[in-house]
Amino acid sequence: MHRSVAMFRFVMVVFRDFFLKCCWRVGEMHTASADGQFRGTNGSSQARDKVAILDAGSQYGKVIDRRIRELCVESDILPLDTPAYHLKENGYRAIIISGGPNSVYAEDAPRYDADIFKIGLPVLGICYGMQMLNKEFGGSVLRKEAREDGQYEVEVETTCPLFNRLEKLQPVLLTHGDSVQKVGERFRVGAQSSNHLIAAIYNEQMRLYGVQFHPEVDLTPKGKQMLSNFLFDIAGLSRSFTLRSRREACIQYIRDTVGETNKVLVLVSGGVDSTVCAALLRTALREDQVIALHIDNGFMRKNESAKVERCLRELGVRLHVVNATHQFRQGSTVVRESGPPGVPTGRSRHTPLLCHATAPEDKRKIIGDVFIRVAEQAVHDLNLPEEQVFLGQGTLRPDLIESASAMCSSNASNIKTHHNDTELVRALRTRGRVVEPLKDFHKDEVRALGMELGLPPAMVERHPFPGPGLAVRVICQDEPYMERDFAETQVIVKIMVEFASMCVKSHALLGRVVNASTPTEQAELKRISSKSPVAATLLPLRTVGVQGDARTYSYAVALSTERYPPDWKDMHYLAKLIPRVCHNVNRVCYAFGGLIKEQVTDITPTFLTQHVISTIRQADDIATQVLLSSGCGRLVAQMPVVLIPIQFDRDAAVRAAPCQRSVVLRPFLTSDFMTGLAALPGTEAMPQEVLDRMRKELMSVPGISRVLYDLTPKPPATTEWE
Ligand SMILES: *[C@@H]1O[C@H](CO)[C@@H](O)[C@H](O)[C@H]1NC(C)=O
Ligand SMILES: *[C@@H]1O[C@H](CO)[C@@H](O)[C@H](O)[C@H]1NC(C)=O
Ligand SMILES: *[C@@H]1O[C@H](CO)[C@@H](O)[C@H](O)[C@H]1NC(C)=O
Ligand SMILES: *[C@@H]1O[C@H](CO)[C@@H](O)[C@H](O)[C@H]1NC(C)=O
Ligand SMILES: *[C@@H]1O[C@H](CO)[C@@H](O)[C@H](O)[C@H]1NC(C)=O
Ligand SMILES: *[C@@H]1O[C@H](CO)[C@@H](O)[C@H](O)[C@H]1NC(C)=O
Repeated sequence: MHRSVAMFRFVMVVFRDFFLKCCWRVGEMHTASADGQFRGTNGSSQARDKVAILDAGSQYGKVIDRRIRELCVESDILPLDTPAYHLKENGYRAIIISGGPNSVYAEDAPRYDADIFKIGLPVLGICYGMQMLNKEFGGSVLRKEAREDGQYEVEVETTCPLFNRLEKLQPVLLTHGDSVQKVGERFRVGAQSSNHLIAAIYNEQMRLYGVQFHPEVDLTPKGKQMLSNFLFDIAGLSRSFTLRSRREACIQYIRDTVGETNKVLVLVSGGVDSTVCAALLRTALREDQVIALHIDNGFMRKNESAKVERCLRELGVRLHVVNATHQFRQGSTVVRESGPPGVPTGRSRHTPLLCHATAPEDKRKIIGDVFIRVAEQAVHDLNLPEEQVFLGQGTLRPDLIESASAMCSSNASNIKTHHNDTELVRALRTRGRVVEPLKDFHKDEVRALGMELGLPPAMVERHPFPGPGLAVRVICQDEPYMERDFAETQVIVKIMVEFASMCVKSHALLGRVVNASTPTEQAELKRISSKSPVAATLLPLRTVGVQGDARTYSYAVALSTERYPPDWKDMHYLAKLIPRVCHNVNRVCYAFGGLIKEQVTDITPTFLTQHVISTIRQADDIATQVLLSSGCGRLVAQMPVVLIPIQFDRDAAVRAAPCQRSVVLRPFLTSDFMTGLAALPGTEAMPQEVLDRMRKELMSVPGISRVLYDLTPKPPATTEWE
């Protein structure tokens, strides 16, 4: 094969890992995760307590896996239709069935072996898993058209072993899809929601449990206790899966794969995964065997590249740094236009230069493609003999699980179609030219590993940072985003924050709010709106969110108040309710600086220019410094700092063109990185005085109009704005 083609392949793979943090859509996951465990004998794998997670296609499968491993129990993710005898033969001691997008009655419902409920293993069925359980034991299911997930309170049966040590009322992430209508024979109801939805069923003797909610996610705060009850009280497992033994195995794996004479090329992004990967490779191999390359795309945080270089150098890893700031900013690419979902029209289009681009998809694509070109050149310059080089990647276990799960689900829309490099990855893997030392680890485990390897805490505790960096933390627009629904949506959000007085006046759009909310929610709106004035301002920009199962780009709302500080709980409540009532609002922020009196119908034209990047970099650095120096950086999992093209408070009389922008803080609490909540001001994670210091210092950055604080949970919003 021609050398540059081979290198191009290497680099393609790396690009995927770096920028998209996505998945292999390869069918190897199931055998990969079960490394050596499908021997069909009573080998050593039986010695340890293991849980089989049967995957019905849930996006949370990897979170279940991680929770189980956090509890020091080994787990494997297996296809839903794994035969019962297989589970038994391979020594699994308990079964967890994940949720899934399907209905148990659908014609294309994923198949399973009903014997899994009869082989004496304890089973915890989550959502889809609970419907399976109920159906097998003669219960019936009520089908519902629309599916809506949300955090609701359920009342649990405290005598049910799954709910040991818990209070009666528990907030949970409940799935409103199919629900149990008639409970299966020999089952008891273990939990119910306030509107009598059956939220859990169980049979204590048979050790079968089903829940209509997700115990694995953060939005079910006591979910980990429930899982622990299942593993230790119900299934009687022990905590035997430790990090140390796994690290040794991992070093051995690197040595066995790479050998004495080969070299490993690893691209270091500056993030935790690739840095730990480089450090681990260096622990297992000689200095001359590890070639680390870092490409500075010009969207890194302040002084980031230098920091990464220094801390790897201290571990004996020589990092080659390429400053490609100019190539990225002046880069462009060709994109394929797509017609109706999934059907490529075949037409292609040249994107603008990155410094003139506004569409989020264009920005990502350009950065991705330029990365490939730059990396290809850099690798070429290193002059490595192709047949002696492996590619080292910091792929984590969740990346692998995600793709395998998408394969399990019959719905092709679950598969992220923009990563069409599967063939390449597969080819490299079959040729055995990829080494992924972290493929069995979750994020928190990678951090622990990094510490053990001697990386400084400040490095391993870094918050996740997207591959395209600050470029996706600037909302670029050249005109306001105002669709036909703008005016009406502005009125509806106004009605919500002035609900008490609007009820008296009986506005024409009042019904829209009433229809979309419960009486309790309306009572809350009345209470909140009878206190001091709150304004809700619709912003003419697009930000990404998740409504239903789809990604949408739509509006954000800025709440503001006369009194400061506001009642944060009320603001938080509005942030949860507004996107539920207005599906075209993806997020809700609080804007500091007093009541916003003027509507915002104009934007400050914004592109990825040197000036704009320098502004966001300063703001990011200031906010991050305050967060870290206050010690809150450990409680807040991530705090994207986002620049939005909005100037508030323009003097209408002067009509000057807007030239300022605003900064949004997005401090986010999560441990599963799938769901999560905004850090509520005035709590331990974000004390009021820390927040006030942050916004005050941010106002010193030239050209900043206001500072905002994103209060939206995920879903419906995502962590990042774009
Ligand atoms: C595996 O274990 C089962 C029962 O635990 C036993 O019947 C069987 O003979 C064993 N097989 C081997 C290959 O040791
Ligand atoms: C950037 O970091 C390097 C290494 O930590 C340090 O030597 C340098 O002074 C820093 N520069 C700035 C501007 O902070
Ligand atoms: C990288 O290059 C750009 C210009 O292309 C320059 O402005 C910047 O200072 C360089 N960065 C470093 C860290 O040297
Ligand atoms: C991936 O790309 C190749 C070549 O560009 C094309 O033939 C193939 O249909 C694509 N596959 C998907 C799933 O888009
Ligand atoms: C409220 O819902 C009812 C029943 O679904 C519908 O007939 C009515 O038009 C809705 N009202 C408004 C204002 O949307
Ligand atoms: C797949 O998911 C999409 C988006 O949620 C939905 O519109 C579509 O009906 C689903 N298709 C199947 C076959 O379930």
